[in-house]
Amino acid sequence: MDLVVEGRAYVRGKLGHWAIGIEDGRIVEIARSIRGAERMNLGDLIILPGAIDPHVHLRDPGLTDKEDFATGTLAAACGGVTTVLDMPNTLPPAVTAEKLAEKKEAIARKAWVDYGLFAGCMPGADIEAMAPMAVGFKVFMGSSTGRLLVTEDKDLARIAAQVNRTGKVLSVHAEDENLIQHDVESTPPDHLRNRPAAAEVSAIRRLSSLPGQINVCHVSSAEGLQALKDLPFTKEVTAHHMLLDRDSEGKAYAKVNPPLRTKEDRLALFQAFISGEIDMLASDHAPHTIEDKEMEFDAAPSGMPGVETAVPMMLALMKRGTVPVEVLVSAMAEKPASVFGLEKGRLEVGRDADLMVIDPRAASPIKVNNLHSKCGWTPFEGREAIFPHMVFVRGQLVVEDGDPVGERVGRDVVVAKRSRS
Ligand code: DOR
Ligand code: ZN
Ligand code: ZN
Repeated sequence: MDLVVEGRAYVRGKLGHWAIGIEDGRIVEIARSIRGAERMNLGDLIILPGAIDPHVHLRDPGLTDKEDFATGTLAAACGGVTTVLDMPNTLPPAVTAEKLAEKKEAIARKAWVDYGLFAGCMPGADIEAMAPMAVGFKVFMGSSTGRLLVTEDKDLARIAAQVNRTGKVLSVHAEDENLIQHDVESTPPDHLRNRPAAAEVSAIRRLSSLPGQINVCHVSSAEGLQALKDLPFTKEVTAHHMLLDRDSEGKAYAKVNPPLRTKEDRLALFQAFISGEIDMLASDHAPHTIEDKEMEFDAAPSGMPGVETAVPMMLALMKRGTVPVEVLVSAMAEKPASVFGLEKGRLEVGRDADLMVIDPRAASPIKVNNLHSKCGWTPFEGREAIFPHMVFVRGQLVVEDGDPVGERVGRDVVVAKRSRS
């Protein structure tokens, strides 16, 4: 055994004192105590599975003035995220097997945490050819950053059928392009008027008859939640849609798709989250530079960073008793692992030893200067958060007290899975 980590660990649905034995990056034993190996005794610090963020935009290749795979995955690690699933709207977009292979090469050896790549679906895409490299597929039904867009039902139907044949997940940005207006906007409420909740509901309805495992990204409205009630889809929510709304400060920094909506929407999402109705917590980390965001509102790009702050803010809410630990662990780790078929997300023998260690007493306000994204800003300045004391990726310590330690060990989860089986 390479290492034994002992503390108050979340095992089989509850916190208790456990020793976790790690060998070759995997959990090989969980017992009250384990002898005969290098031990790290964490006392009453809490050990949770590392989080899996099913939705980030790390901008590599092509948009690396905003973020790159090194800075984005370091930000992830410092926020307790040990696996990121990266979206295809990079430059060039990852929409063919060739472009996916190029992207893999461009980011190789840069990552601090494990990662998977989404393949972008355009009409006519060769889904089968992309499948061996992709952790999942992505469709944008409404236009956002980049040019990926599928507006016709016949294209959606073909894509969903082909993705279904690969056995992978289809993650969808569900805003119906037909219901998005492009009137000149100068405030977050204007942006919301252009992208009403009806666009989300319509997109969800159009998906409702499609086959396969569909994941609705960043559900953002009470109506959207309602429309999803009887559908077999999984769903994500973001921290920003639960904690910010159209009346939050922030000019173009608060411009994001889907938009920040009303206080009622925000509270409905948060309520659904804490009652365990939401499958996954996603950051939709979408860094843009300060320069981008200082442009006129109408011209500024949509999106906000969040991969380093989403889990820590939820951990602070967990400590306050607002978010139950089992709900948070399910949404940030267990469910994303099962949806995307990863041997991660639980402190369980046989799974990857991806862990975060937290000191529940160590809540502190978020300060942008302590964050690691290249974009250099956060919409959550001053919010209470608990940043992990330590983060392990497959048994390797990568972050300690907000700073990187050791080597960059991140690897592609799809490649790793193939070599496992
Ligand atoms: O606000 C957004 N930003 N929404 C998206 O769908 C894309 C993202 C980005 O890549 O900037
Ligand atoms: Zn999206
Ligand atoms: Zn996104």
